[in-house]
Amino acid sequence: MSDRNYALITGASSGLGWHFSELLAEKGFQLIAVSNQPAELAALKKHLEMTYALPVHTVHMDLAREEAARSLYDYCEKNDLPVEVLVNNAGMLVYGEAASVQYAQVKAVLQLHMTTPALLCRLFSENMLKNGRGFILNVSSISAVMPYPIISYYGPTKTFLRHFTRALRTELKPAGVNVTCLLPGAIDTALFEKYLFDRELARRLHVLKHPEKVARAGIKALFRNRPECMPGLLNKLAIYMLPIIPQFIIGMIYARVRKVT
Ligand SMILES: NC(=O)c1ccc[n+]([C@@H]2O[C@H](COP(=O)([O-])OP(=O)(O)OC[C@H]3O[C@@H](n4cnc5c(N)ncnc54)[C@H](OP(=O)(O)O)[C@@H]3O)[C@@H](O)[C@H]2O)c1
Repeated sequence: MSDRNYALITGASSGLGWHFSELLAEKGFQLIAVSNQPAELAALKKHLEMTYALPVHTVHMDLAREEAARSLYDYCEKNDLPVEVLVNNAGMLVYGEAASVQYAQVKAVLQLHMTTPALLCRLFSENMLKNGRGFILNVSSISAVMPYPIISYYGPTKTFLRHFTRALRTELKPAGVNVTCLLPGAIDTALFEKYLFDRELARRLHVLKHPEKVARAGIKALFRNRPECMPGLLNKLAIYMLPIIPQFIIGMIYARVRKVT
């Protein structure tokens, strides 16, 4: 590997993103770690530079801003950081009925899960095409097959990312660019912090997967040029089985839950 290989990871400051960063550093990539948490980014940089003796560029940026993708691309161009691996991982959980979720949160999740990753793919894939080499990993979710109430913004934005990734893969594959979509189930990260009340119970029931395991599966799938990665048998089954549940059953469950809460 030359000394000019950069991997850019969004949402690198915690959870899956932290582990993606570590795994890519382990593979010898220099890193561009992006998130909106400066203290955690600084901790990641210190840890990786000490462990792997590779430079880590940190970019503190709100990726839910309209011009985020362009600014990030311009930063890489200006600092001569050619990106060979792009991991679109940053995400947020928006939970609640569509008509009552805060307007600002809706805007943020649409931007963060759809516009910013699609624009980053647009901007960075052009150079990957020219070089005949590149790797794009987009982090969707099992929720991509869940057009369900209460997660009406989260699930469908992840569906967009899944379908976009599939189309992009078909276009870029002949040119030697790997494009993979990761579709994890529940993971033991901060994403659920506000909403999962009994985390310990979930851990004991093995409902939550360890983020390092999920990140490792995603990176392996990317470098093996797999179209999709669905870590865990239950997760895989759910992704194939959930779409056949009739909508009226979802409606019935929702009505029951509304009555109880
Ligand atoms: N956890 C799960 O069960 C699960 C399941 C399926 C898919 N996923 C997906 O996996 C990805 C990683 O999530 P995670 O589980 O690792 O959760 P996490 O620990 O909360 O990581 C999300 C990362 O995205 C960053 N981020 C959020 N909003 C941002 C913004 N506006 N600008 C810049 N960075 C922002 C976060 O920084 P902050 O510190 O600001 O939050 C954090 O670094 C997400 O796309 C998520 O949807 C997670």
